[in-house]
Amino acid sequence: MAPLGDGSDAAEEAIAGQLVNRPISTVVIVIAMQTEALPLVEKFQLVEDSESPFPKGVPWVRYYGTYKELSINLIWPGKDPSLGVDSVGTISASLVTYASICALQPDLIINAGTCGGFKAKGASISDVFVASEVAFHDRRIPIPVFDLYGVGLRQTFPTPNLLKEINLKAGKLSTGDSLDMSPQDEASIIANDATVKDMEGAAVAYVADLMKVPAIFVKAVTDIVDGEKPTAEEFLQNLATVTATLGLSVTQIIDFISGKCLSEL
Ligand code: ADE
Repeated sequence: MAPLGDGSDAAEEAIAGQLVNRPISTVVIVIAMQTEALPLVEKFQLVEDSESPFPKGVPWVRYYGTYKELSINLIWPGKDPSLGVDSVGTISASLVTYASICALQPDLIINAGTCGGFKAKGASISDVFVASEVAFHDRRIPIPVFDLYGVGLRQTFPTPNLLKEINLKAGKLSTGDSLDMSPQDEASIIANDATVKDMEGAAVAYVADLMKVPAIFVKAVTDIVDGEKPTAEEFLQNLATVTATLGLSVTQIIDFISGKCLSEL
């Protein structure tokens, strides 16, 4: 979850466990929306787990299979049991990340999905970003130290070779539980120096850090937050094409990861 050698728990754990020097074997991909997940299920020829490792009755879905010698687990939090829509946001993302780590012991977590981008920071529709760091923008606790806890800034696992090899942008990611952006959120996003905003990343990062599993964040831009169009409209308009682009990028990343150690990413 953090740059190697910076003294963080996840990096030290990875080094101590020699995980950095043996090929990555098991990958968990956490994806919030079915539309984002299905192109990858098809590409990697994954099948739905009929004997889910998750508690009985939860909507969480595990698709799994072997692709280029990697054990791939795509985890989708499923549909909200009452409302029937995708279980987006930080609560479901945290729960499935925790349950997936416990059940599957992955070497690496990839949180993939769509995001809003800031054109003032260089984002355009269909750009795919790998997050250099992640933080929250809707957890304001104006008390010393609790303020930092609320922001929850975390460095992501460094992937310098992957960024060199694949044509992806790097930028900071800010996470909150709303698709829109209140003036308070905007101030926090600016303070976080974010180029993209999503609804899951920092939550996945929190759990991955807690459980000492390296994690990377791949986010494709569906809407321009500081643009002219209403966010929800632009998001829905671009969702299908941008998820296809996201699928291609995640495939390139998985192809790159295959046969490599964490230290080679
Ligand atoms: N996912 C796609 N667009 C988003 C936005 N503008 N904010 C949060 N999550 C998003």
